[in-house]
Amino acid sequence: MTQQTSMTGRPVISATGLFTPEQSISNEELVASFNAFVERFNAQNADAIAAGEVEALHPSSVEFIEKASGIKARHVLSKEPILDPAIMEPRLEERGNDELSQMAEIGVAACRQALERAGRDAADIDAVLCAASNMERPYPAMAIEIQQALGIDGFGFDMNVACSSATFGIQTAADYIRAGNAKSVLVVSPEITSGHLNWRDRDSHFIFGDVATAVLVEDAAIAPAEHWDILGTKLKTVFSNNIRNNFGFLNRAAPEGVGKADKLFVQEGRKVFKEVVPMVAEMIVSEADRLGIDPQGLRRLWLHQANAGMNRLIAQRVLGHEADADESPTVLDTYGNTSSAGSIIAFHLHSEDLAEGDTGLICSFGAGYSAGTVFVRKAA
Ligand code: COA
Repeated sequence: MTQQTSMTGRPVISATGLFTPEQSISNEELVASFNAFVERFNAQNADAIAAGEVEALHPSSVEFIEKASGIKARHVLSKEPILDPAIMEPRLEERGNDELSQMAEIGVAACRQALERAGRDAADIDAVLCAASNMERPYPAMAIEIQQALGIDGFGFDMNVACSSATFGIQTAADYIRAGNAKSVLVVSPEITSGHLNWRDRDSHFIFGDVATAVLVEDAAIAPAEHWDILGTKLKTVFSNNIRNNFGFLNRAAPEGVGKADKLFVQEGRKVFKEVVPMVAEMIVSEADRLGIDPQGLRRLWLHQANAGMNRLIAQRVLGHEADADESPTVLDTYGNTSSAGSIIAFHLHSEDLAEGDTGLICSFGAGYSAGTVFVRKAA
Protein backbone atom coordinates (compact mmCIF):
# COMPACT_ATOMS: atom_id res chain seq x y z
CA MET A 1 0.00 0.00 0.00
CA THR A 2 2.70 2.45 1.03
CA GLN A 3 4.75 1.55 -2.00
CA GLN A 4 1.77 2.02 -4.33
CA THR A 5 0.97 5.43 -2.84
CA SER A 6 4.51 6.66 -3.32
CA MET A 7 4.27 5.79 -7.03
CA THR A 8 1.06 7.71 -7.64
CA GLY A 9 0.93 11.27 -8.86
CA ARG A 10 -1.44 14.19 -8.36
CA PRO A 11 -2.72 15.48 -11.73
CA VAL A 12 -2.83 19.17 -12.56
CA ILE A 13 -3.35 21.27 -15.67
CA SER A 14 -0.02 22.95 -16.37
CA ALA A 15 -1.09 24.95 -19.43
CA THR A 16 -3.39 25.08 -22.43
CA GLY A 17 -2.92 26.03 -26.06
CA LEU A 18 -5.24 27.30 -28.78
CA PHE A 19 -5.05 27.46 -32.55
CA THR A 20 -7.70 29.63 -34.21
CA PRO A 21 -8.00 29.65 -38.04
CA GLU A 22 -7.66 33.14 -39.47
CA GLN A 23 -10.76 32.94 -41.63
CA SER A 24 -14.18 33.49 -40.11
CA ILE A 25 -17.71 33.35 -41.54
CA SER A 26 -20.36 35.70 -40.14
CA ASN A 27 -24.01 34.69 -39.96
CA GLU A 28 -24.77 37.29 -42.63
CA GLU A 29 -22.28 35.75 -45.05
CA LEU A 30 -23.44 32.23 -44.24
CA VAL A 31 -27.13 32.99 -44.70
CA ALA A 32 -26.55 34.93 -47.94
CA SER A 33 -24.76 31.92 -49.42
CA PHE A 34 -27.30 29.41 -48.10
CA ASN A 35 -30.22 31.42 -49.42
CA ALA A 36 -28.57 31.74 -52.85
CA PHE A 37 -28.30 27.94 -52.86
CA VAL A 38 -31.99 27.62 -51.87
CA GLU A 39 -33.10 30.00 -54.62
CA ARG A 40 -31.03 28.14 -57.18
CA PHE A 41 -32.33 24.75 -56.03
CA ASN A 42 -35.96 25.86 -56.05
CA ALA A 43 -35.60 27.43 -59.52
CA GLN A 44 -33.89 24.34 -60.94
CA ASN A 45 -36.57 22.08 -59.46
CA ALA A 46 -39.56 24.40 -60.06
CA ASP A 47 -41.54 21.86 -62.10
CA ALA A 48 -40.92 18.96 -59.74
CA ILE A 49 -41.80 21.19 -56.78
CA ALA A 50 -45.03 22.29 -58.51
CA ALA A 51 -45.87 18.63 -59.21
CA GLY A 52 -45.31 17.77 -55.54
CA GLU A 53 -42.41 15.44 -56.38
CA VAL A 54 -39.70 17.51 -54.70
CA GLU A 55 -40.00 19.59 -51.55
CA ALA A 56 -39.07 23.24 -51.87
CA LEU A 57 -36.22 24.36 -49.62
CA HIS A 58 -36.76 27.18 -47.13
CA PRO A 59 -34.39 30.09 -46.55
CA SER A 60 -32.28 30.42 -43.42
CA SER A 61 -32.24 33.54 -41.27
CA VAL A 62 -29.64 35.40 -39.22
CA GLU A 63 -32.26 36.25 -36.60
CA PHE A 64 -33.21 32.59 -36.13
CA ILE A 65 -29.60 31.47 -35.79
CA GLU A 66 -28.70 34.08 -33.21
CA LYS A 67 -31.86 33.60 -31.19
CA ALA A 68 -31.86 29.77 -31.27
CA SER A 69 -28.14 29.22 -30.72
CA GLY A 70 -26.28 32.41 -29.74
CA ILE A 71 -23.82 31.82 -32.59
CA LYS A 72 -22.78 34.90 -34.58
CA ALA A 73 -19.71 33.64 -36.47
CA ARG A 74 -17.40 30.65 -36.78
CA HIS A 75 -13.77 30.17 -37.78
CA VAL A 76 -13.02 27.82 -40.68
CA LEU A 77 -9.95 26.54 -42.50
CA SER A 78 -11.48 26.97 -45.95
CA LYS A 79 -13.96 29.80 -46.24
CA GLU A 80 -14.49 30.46 -49.94
CA PRO A 81 -15.71 27.02 -51.08
CA ILE A 82 -18.03 26.76 -48.07
CA LEU A 83 -19.68 30.02 -49.12
CA ASP A 84 -19.82 29.12 -52.81
CA PRO A 85 -23.45 28.02 -53.39
CA ALA A 86 -22.19 25.57 -56.02
CA ILE A 87 -19.80 23.85 -53.56
CA MET A 88 -20.80 24.41 -49.90
CA GLU A 89 -18.00 22.22 -48.56
CA PRO A 90 -14.49 23.00 -47.37
CA ARG A 91 -11.71 22.29 -49.86
CA LEU A 92 -8.46 21.16 -48.27
CA GLU A 93 -5.90 19.88 -50.70
CA GLU A 94 -4.90 16.26 -50.22
CA ARG A 95 -1.41 16.05 -48.76
CA GLY A 96 1.32 13.55 -49.48
CA ASN A 97 2.18 10.88 -46.91
CA ASP A 98 5.45 12.60 -46.11
CA GLU A 99 3.75 15.93 -45.40
CA LEU A 100 2.22 16.83 -42.04
CA SER A 101 -1.50 16.13 -42.33
CA GLN A 102 -4.02 18.93 -41.93
CA MET A 103 -5.38 17.78 -38.58
CA ALA A 104 -1.91 17.14 -37.18
CA GLU A 105 -0.79 20.61 -38.31
CA ILE A 106 -3.40 22.51 -36.32
CA GLY A 107 -3.01 20.11 -33.39
CA VAL A 108 0.74 20.72 -33.33
CA ALA A 109 0.16 24.50 -33.32
CA ALA A 110 -2.08 24.23 -30.22
CA CYS A 111 0.36 21.83 -28.52
CA ARG A 112 3.33 24.11 -29.13
CA GLN A 113 1.53 26.97 -27.40
CA ALA A 114 0.67 24.77 -24.39
CA LEU A 115 4.28 23.58 -24.12
CA GLU A 116 5.59 27.14 -24.39
CA ARG A 117 3.20 28.42 -21.75
CA ALA A 118 4.26 25.65 -19.39
CA GLY A 119 7.94 26.21 -20.18
CA ARG A 120 8.07 22.55 -21.09
CA ASP A 121 10.37 20.81 -23.50
CA ALA A 122 8.90 18.19 -25.85
CA ALA A 123 11.44 15.70 -24.48
CA ASP A 124 9.66 15.86 -21.09
CA ILE A 125 6.29 14.65 -22.44
CA ASP A 126 5.36 10.99 -21.99
CA ALA A 127 2.21 10.71 -24.10
CA VAL A 128 -0.07 12.43 -26.61
CA LEU A 129 -3.80 11.74 -26.68
CA CYS A 130 -5.57 13.05 -29.76
CA ALA A 131 -9.13 13.46 -28.52
CA ALA A 132 -11.58 14.73 -31.14
CA SER A 133 -14.91 14.11 -32.87
CA ASN A 134 -13.47 13.18 -36.24
CA MET A 135 -10.12 11.75 -37.27
CA GLU A 136 -8.68 12.60 -40.66
CA ARG A 137 -7.95 8.93 -41.31
CA PRO A 138 -8.29 5.65 -39.42
CA TYR A 139 -4.53 5.02 -39.09
CA PRO A 140 -1.74 5.65 -38.35
CA ALA A 141 -3.19 7.48 -35.35
CA MET A 142 -3.22 11.29 -35.56
CA ALA A 143 -1.71 11.34 -32.06
CA ILE A 144 1.37 9.46 -33.23
CA GLU A 145 1.91 11.88 -36.09
CA ILE A 146 1.56 14.83 -33.68
CA GLN A 147 3.91 13.10 -31.23
CA GLN A 148 6.50 12.70 -33.96
CA ALA A 149 6.13 16.26 -35.26
CA LEU A 150 6.73 17.60 -31.75
CA GLY A 151 9.67 15.29 -31.10
CA ILE A 152 8.08 13.43 -28.20
CA ASP A 153 9.30 10.05 -27.03
CA GLY A 154 6.72 7.69 -25.51
CA PHE A 155 3.32 6.88 -26.96
CA GLY A 156 0.16 8.34 -28.43
CA PHE A 157 -3.31 7.22 -29.43
CA ASP A 158 -6.58 8.63 -30.74
CA MET A 159 -9.85 8.70 -28.88
CA ASN A 160 -13.27 9.89 -29.92
CA VAL A 161 -16.14 10.66 -27.59
CA ALA A 162 -17.57 13.39 -29.85
CA CYS A 163 -18.10 16.70 -28.02
CA SER A 164 -16.78 15.20 -24.78
CA SER A 165 -13.51 13.96 -26.25
CA ALA A 166 -11.35 16.56 -24.48
CA THR A 167 -12.71 15.96 -20.97
CA PHE A 168 -12.51 12.20 -21.50
CA GLY A 169 -8.92 12.78 -22.62
CA ILE A 170 -8.19 14.87 -19.51
CA GLN A 171 -9.52 12.13 -17.22
CA THR A 172 -7.51 9.50 -19.13
CA ALA A 173 -4.36 11.63 -18.80
CA ALA A 174 -5.12 12.29 -15.13
CA ASP A 175 -5.53 8.54 -14.55
CA TYR A 176 -2.12 7.84 -16.09
CA ILE A 177 -0.65 10.33 -13.64
CA ARG A 178 -2.66 9.03 -10.68
CA ALA A 179 -1.46 5.51 -11.50
CA GLY A 180 2.15 6.62 -11.89
CA ASN A 181 2.28 5.55 -15.54
CA ALA A 182 3.12 9.02 -16.87
CA LYS A 183 4.13 12.43 -15.53
CA SER A 184 3.27 14.65 -18.47
CA VAL A 185 0.50 14.06 -21.03
CA LEU A 186 -0.72 16.28 -23.87
CA VAL A 187 -4.43 16.09 -24.69
CA VAL A 188 -4.93 17.65 -28.11
CA SER A 189 -8.29 18.30 -29.78
CA PRO A 190 -8.00 19.38 -33.41
CA GLU A 191 -11.59 19.84 -34.54
CA ILE A 192 -12.09 20.33 -38.29
CA THR A 193 -15.84 20.26 -37.84
CA SER A 194 -16.41 22.00 -41.20
CA GLY A 195 -15.70 18.59 -42.75
CA HIS A 196 -18.63 16.82 -41.08
CA LEU A 197 -21.13 19.69 -41.21
CA ASN A 198 -23.85 19.58 -43.87
CA TRP A 199 -23.64 23.18 -45.08
CA ARG A 200 -26.80 22.59 -47.18
CA ASP A 201 -28.93 21.64 -44.16
CA ARG A 202 -30.94 24.59 -42.86
CA ASP A 203 -31.37 23.01 -39.41
CA SER A 204 -27.65 22.71 -38.74
CA HIS A 205 -25.62 24.69 -41.32
CA PHE A 206 -24.80 27.41 -38.78
CA ILE A 207 -23.62 25.22 -35.92
CA PHE A 208 -19.93 24.34 -36.22
CA GLY A 209 -16.50 25.94 -36.49
CA ASP A 210 -12.87 24.77 -36.82
CA VAL A 211 -10.24 25.08 -34.09
CA ALA A 212 -7.60 23.14 -32.17
CA THR A 213 -6.91 23.09 -28.43
CA ALA A 214 -4.30 21.40 -26.26
CA VAL A 215 -4.25 20.70 -22.52
CA LEU A 216 -1.05 19.71 -20.75
CA VAL A 217 -1.90 17.41 -17.82
CA GLU A 218 1.01 16.76 -15.48
CA ASP A 219 2.04 15.43 -12.11
CA ALA A 220 2.02 18.30 -9.58
CA ALA A 221 5.56 17.29 -8.64
CA ILE A 222 6.93 18.55 -11.98
CA ALA A 223 4.33 21.19 -12.88
CA PRO A 224 5.14 24.91 -13.16
CA ALA A 225 4.17 27.02 -10.12
CA GLU A 226 1.23 28.51 -12.05
CA HIS A 227 -1.11 25.58 -12.62
CA TRP A 228 -4.59 24.29 -11.92
CA ASP A 229 -5.08 21.44 -9.46
CA ILE A 230 -7.50 18.84 -10.77
CA LEU A 231 -9.85 18.24 -7.84
CA GLY A 232 -11.83 15.49 -9.53
CA THR A 233 -12.95 14.15 -12.90
CA LYS A 234 -16.16 12.34 -13.78
CA LEU A 235 -17.40 10.85 -17.06
CA LYS A 236 -20.85 9.70 -18.13
CA THR A 237 -22.33 8.16 -21.29
CA VAL A 238 -25.93 7.29 -22.16
CA PHE A 239 -26.68 5.96 -25.64
CA SER A 240 -28.76 8.24 -27.88
CA ASN A 241 -29.45 8.49 -31.61
CA ASN A 242 -30.35 12.16 -31.34
CA ILE A 243 -26.91 13.27 -32.53
CA ARG A 244 -25.48 10.91 -35.09
CA ASN A 245 -23.10 10.59 -38.03
CA ASN A 246 -23.12 7.32 -39.99
CA PHE A 247 -19.93 7.97 -41.94
CA GLY A 248 -17.60 5.03 -41.64
CA PHE A 249 -15.42 2.39 -43.21
CA LEU A 250 -18.36 0.10 -43.95
CA ASN A 251 -20.14 2.71 -46.10
CA ARG A 252 -18.54 1.21 -49.21
CA ALA A 253 -20.20 -2.09 -48.37
CA ALA A 254 -23.57 -0.36 -48.89
CA PRO A 255 -22.80 1.94 -51.85
CA GLU A 256 -26.42 3.10 -52.20
CA GLY A 257 -25.98 5.08 -48.94
CA VAL A 258 -22.73 6.83 -49.84
CA GLY A 259 -23.11 10.60 -49.87
CA LYS A 260 -26.52 10.59 -48.12
CA ALA A 261 -27.22 13.23 -45.47
CA ASP A 262 -26.79 10.75 -42.60
CA LYS A 263 -23.10 10.39 -43.52
CA LEU A 264 -22.65 13.89 -42.07
CA PHE A 265 -23.71 15.39 -38.73
CA VAL A 266 -27.46 15.14 -38.06
CA GLN A 267 -29.34 15.87 -34.88
CA GLU A 268 -32.72 16.29 -33.22
CA GLY A 269 -31.63 19.58 -31.68
CA ARG A 270 -34.70 20.15 -29.56
CA LYS A 271 -34.57 16.66 -28.01
CA VAL A 272 -30.86 17.07 -27.34
CA PHE A 273 -31.53 20.35 -25.59
CA LYS A 274 -34.31 18.89 -23.43
CA GLU A 275 -32.52 15.68 -22.47
CA VAL A 276 -28.96 16.89 -22.00
CA VAL A 277 -29.61 19.98 -19.82
CA PRO A 278 -31.05 18.05 -16.82
CA MET A 279 -28.57 15.19 -17.25
CA VAL A 280 -25.56 17.52 -17.13
CA ALA A 281 -26.88 19.79 -14.37
CA GLU A 282 -27.57 16.76 -12.17
CA MET A 283 -24.16 15.28 -12.93
CA ILE A 284 -22.34 18.50 -11.98
CA VAL A 285 -24.23 18.93 -8.72
CA SER A 286 -23.77 15.30 -7.61
CA GLU A 287 -20.08 15.28 -8.54
CA ALA A 288 -19.56 18.56 -6.65
CA ASP A 289 -21.25 16.93 -3.66
CA ARG A 290 -18.99 13.87 -3.91
CA LEU A 291 -15.94 16.15 -3.97
CA GLY A 292 -17.20 18.27 -1.06
CA ILE A 293 -17.47 21.38 -3.26
CA ASP A 294 -20.36 23.82 -2.91
CA PRO A 295 -21.56 24.25 -6.53
CA GLN A 296 -22.86 27.72 -5.69
CA GLY A 297 -19.34 28.69 -4.65
CA LEU A 298 -17.83 27.87 -8.05
CA ARG A 299 -16.04 30.97 -9.30
CA ARG A 300 -16.42 30.10 -12.98
CA LEU A 301 -18.00 27.52 -15.28
CA TRP A 302 -16.28 26.74 -18.58
CA LEU A 303 -19.15 24.93 -20.25
CA HIS A 304 -19.36 23.12 -23.57
CA GLN A 305 -20.13 25.67 -26.27
CA ALA A 306 -23.08 24.37 -28.30
CA ASN A 307 -26.00 26.57 -27.39
CA ALA A 308 -26.25 29.73 -25.27
CA GLY A 309 -29.68 28.72 -23.95
CA MET A 310 -28.42 25.33 -22.76
CA ASN A 311 -25.54 26.98 -20.93
CA ARG A 312 -27.84 29.54 -19.33
CA LEU A 313 -30.07 26.78 -17.92
CA ILE A 314 -27.22 24.53 -16.77
CA ALA A 315 -25.38 27.42 -15.09
CA GLN A 316 -28.57 28.52 -13.37
CA ARG A 317 -29.22 25.05 -11.97
CA VAL A 318 -25.63 24.70 -10.75
CA LEU A 319 -25.08 28.19 -9.31
CA GLY A 320 -28.64 28.75 -8.09
CA HIS A 321 -28.92 32.05 -9.97
CA GLU A 322 -28.64 33.37 -13.52
CA ALA A 323 -24.92 33.38 -14.38
CA ASP A 324 -23.33 36.50 -15.77
CA ALA A 325 -20.66 36.48 -18.49
CA ASP A 326 -17.94 36.47 -15.84
CA GLU A 327 -19.29 33.33 -14.14
CA SER A 328 -20.05 31.43 -17.36
CA PRO A 329 -18.12 32.90 -20.28
CA THR A 330 -19.32 32.42 -23.85
CA VAL A 331 -17.07 31.74 -26.81
CA LEU A 332 -19.64 30.16 -29.14
CA ASP A 333 -20.69 33.61 -30.34
CA THR A 334 -17.44 33.93 -32.32
CA TYR A 335 -16.27 30.29 -32.52
CA GLY A 336 -19.58 28.48 -33.08
CA ASN A 337 -19.78 24.94 -31.72
CA THR A 338 -16.24 23.58 -31.87
CA SER A 339 -17.24 20.17 -30.51
CA SER A 340 -14.80 18.88 -27.88
CA ALA A 341 -12.68 22.04 -27.99
CA GLY A 342 -15.43 24.44 -26.83
CA SER A 343 -15.04 24.23 -23.05
CA ILE A 344 -11.25 24.24 -23.44
CA ILE A 345 -11.32 27.44 -25.54
CA ALA A 346 -13.48 29.04 -22.84
CA PHE A 347 -10.98 27.92 -20.17
CA HIS A 348 -7.99 29.03 -22.23
CA LEU A 349 -9.36 32.50 -22.94
CA HIS A 350 -11.08 33.15 -19.61
CA SER A 351 -9.04 31.79 -16.74
CA GLU A 352 -6.00 34.00 -16.24
CA ASP A 353 -7.88 36.57 -14.16
CA LEU A 354 -8.86 34.06 -11.47
CA ALA A 355 -7.11 34.22 -8.09
CA GLU A 356 -5.20 31.56 -6.21
CA GLY A 357 -7.68 29.21 -4.54
CA ASP A 358 -10.55 29.96 -6.95
CA THR A 359 -12.47 26.85 -7.95
CA GLY A 360 -14.05 26.28 -11.35
CA LEU A 361 -15.47 23.61 -13.60
CA ILE A 362 -14.65 22.52 -17.14
CA CYS A 363 -17.66 20.62 -18.46
CA SER A 364 -18.43 19.03 -21.82
CA PHE A 365 -21.52 17.34 -23.21
CA GLY A 366 -22.71 16.08 -26.57
CA ALA A 367 -23.16 13.10 -28.83
CA GLY A 368 -23.24 9.65 -27.32
CA TYR A 369 -24.72 11.14 -25.17
CA SER A 370 -21.48 11.86 -23.38
CA ALA A 371 -20.60 14.28 -20.60
CA GLY A 372 -17.47 15.00 -18.61
CA THR A 373 -16.64 17.21 -15.62
CA VAL A 374 -13.20 18.42 -14.54
CA PHE A 375 -13.24 20.43 -11.30
CA VAL A 376 -10.12 22.59 -10.98
CA ARG A 377 -8.59 25.00 -8.45
CA LYS A 378 -6.05 27.68 -9.27
CA ALA A 379 -2.84 26.84 -7.44
CA ALA A 380 -0.92 30.08 -7.97
N1 COA B 1 -33.40 29.56 -40.27
C1 COA B 1 -34.69 29.85 -40.06
N2 COA B 1 -35.55 28.98 -39.48
C2 COA B 1 -35.09 27.77 -39.14
C3 COA B 1 -33.75 27.40 -39.36
C4 COA B 1 -32.89 28.35 -39.96
N3 COA B 1 -31.60 28.09 -40.20
N4 COA B 1 -33.57 26.15 -38.92
C5 COA B 1 -34.75 25.73 -38.44
N5 COA B 1 -35.66 26.71 -38.58
C6 COA B 1 -37.08 26.65 -38.18
C7 COA B 1 -37.60 25.24 -38.16
O1 COA B 1 -38.04 24.86 -39.43
C8 COA B 1 -38.72 25.34 -37.16
O2 COA B 1 -39.86 25.85 -37.79
P1 COA B 1 -41.33 25.34 -37.39
O3 COA B 1 -41.49 25.74 -35.95
O4 COA B 1 -42.20 26.07 -38.35
O5 COA B 1 -41.28 23.87 -37.56
C9 COA B 1 -38.23 26.39 -36.16
O6 COA B 1 -37.23 27.12 -36.85
C10 COA B 1 -37.67 25.80 -34.90
O7 COA B 1 -36.71 24.77 -35.25
P2 COA B 1 -35.98 23.90 -34.19
O8 COA B 1 -35.03 22.97 -34.89
O9 COA B 1 -36.98 23.30 -33.26
O10 COA B 1 -35.12 25.01 -33.44
P3 COA B 1 -34.51 25.04 -32.01
O11 COA B 1 -35.07 26.17 -31.28
O12 COA B 1 -34.52 23.70 -31.36
O13 COA B 1 -32.97 25.43 -32.32
C11 COA B 1 -30.82 24.34 -32.39
C12 COA B 1 -32.15 24.56 -33.09
C13 COA B 1 -30.02 23.34 -33.16
C14 COA B 1 -30.08 25.66 -32.34
C15 COA B 1 -31.06 23.88 -30.94
O14 COA B 1 -32.00 22.84 -30.94
C16 COA B 1 -29.82 23.38 -30.26
O15 COA B 1 -28.79 24.03 -30.21
N6 COA B 1 -29.96 22.24 -29.59
C17 COA B 1 -28.87 21.65 -28.85
C18 COA B 1 -27.94 21.07 -29.81
C19 COA B 1 -26.68 20.58 -29.25
O16 COA B 1 -26.20 20.99 -28.24
N7 COA B 1 -26.11 19.69 -29.97
C20 COA B 1 -24.88 19.19 -29.63
C21 COA B 1 -24.14 19.12 -30.89
S1 COA B 1 -22.61 18.48 -30.56
